[in-house]
Amino acid sequence: MESRALVLLLVPLASLFLLLGSTSAQLSVNYYSKTCPNAEEIVRKEMIQILSVAPSLAGPFLRLHFHDCFVRGCDGSVLLDSTPGNKAEKKALPNLTLRGFGSVERVKAKLEKACPNTVSCADVLTLMARDAVWLSKGPTWPVSLGRRDGRVSYANETDQLPPPQADLTQLIRMFAVKGLDLKDLVVLSGAHTIGTAHCSSISDRLYNFTGHGNLSDVDPFLEKHYLAKLRSTCSPTDTKTIIEMDPGSFKTFDTSYFNYVAKRRSAFHSDWALLTDSFTRAYVLKHANGFESEFFQDFAESMIKMGNVDVLTGSLGEIRKKCSIVN
Ligand code: HEM
Repeated sequence: MESRALVLLLVPLASLFLLLGSTSAQLSVNYYSKTCPNAEEIVRKEMIQILSVAPSLAGPFLRLHFHDCFVRGCDGSVLLDSTPGNKAEKKALPNLTLRGFGSVERVKAKLEKACPNTVSCADVLTLMARDAVWLSKGPTWPVSLGRRDGRVSYANETDQLPPPQADLTQLIRMFAVKGLDLKDLVVLSGAHTIGTAHCSSISDRLYNFTGHGNLSDVDPFLEKHYLAKLRSTCSPTDTKTIIEMDPGSFKTFDTSYFNYVAKRRSAFHSDWALLTDSFTRAYVLKHANGFESEFFQDFAESMIKMGNVDVLTGSLGEIRKKCSIVN
């Protein structure tokens, strides 16, 4: 009886270790302990300075990391510039609204000064995203390090990024391809508690929902007072104006995003879509009423998973000297 109990216990434990081994490859939290012991401290110090001057960059750093990990894994490919004959990810439509590249370069330069050719741009971005959340009053978590930088970046591969018009089936599929499940989807969507969106990212919900060019054709699932407010802020062709995705607390990492989703006052159709599945809906409704520490714990876990997607380790890739160009 006892040995059967032991076997039952060991099987799930063994599979958990196998899973950890396969997702995080050779990453480790102590990766730079000998080669650049102050790496995390250097990043954090710079982040405190950057965000004290430009707090609105917290959202962009978090989004940069997400867009990096969803295309070719977390390998810094989103940071590369186009080259003659090659249009990089950066220049593709979903990435034209990304910001913060200069700050990533600034942090990387500090690390190059302290420990040349050692800390990858992919790791720098992962740490910056983690610290951006923490400095926005959100959770923090240990980051496994040792990602190496990719050497290519192709604009056409950004079709792996979920569009704001996506329905739940599409979102589930696009997350599943990256090894992320339904819970990761609803939890990571909570990143929209910080940051802003351009009117152009939501204008189809306000003016041309079914794509027939009819300006009174609106997303029927957008709450009507919020719809009116957004229409008064964003004209149909506005490409410049930005809106707060979590109005009133868009600089603070908290659970109020879920409250907006529950009230059908979220920015994107993809946020609303979380109400269309029983599991994600239950998560949204529960966290619309608080349960902040549970959300923080979940967010940390899902960010660790996302940060391990298809990483390059060992002798793959390289350690770039500058994040925008390969060595
Ligand atoms: C679930 C699918 C997702 C979709 C469809 C989506 C889509 C978008 C879009 C369209 C914007 C606005 C861009 C603009 O107009 O400037 C945005 C902003 C943002 N997204 Fe997402 N996103 C998703 C998931 C995520 C995830 C997983 C994260 C991070 C873990 C994330 C973090 C952010 C942040 C922080 C911003 C604000 C950026 C800023 O302030 O400039 N998003 N997202």
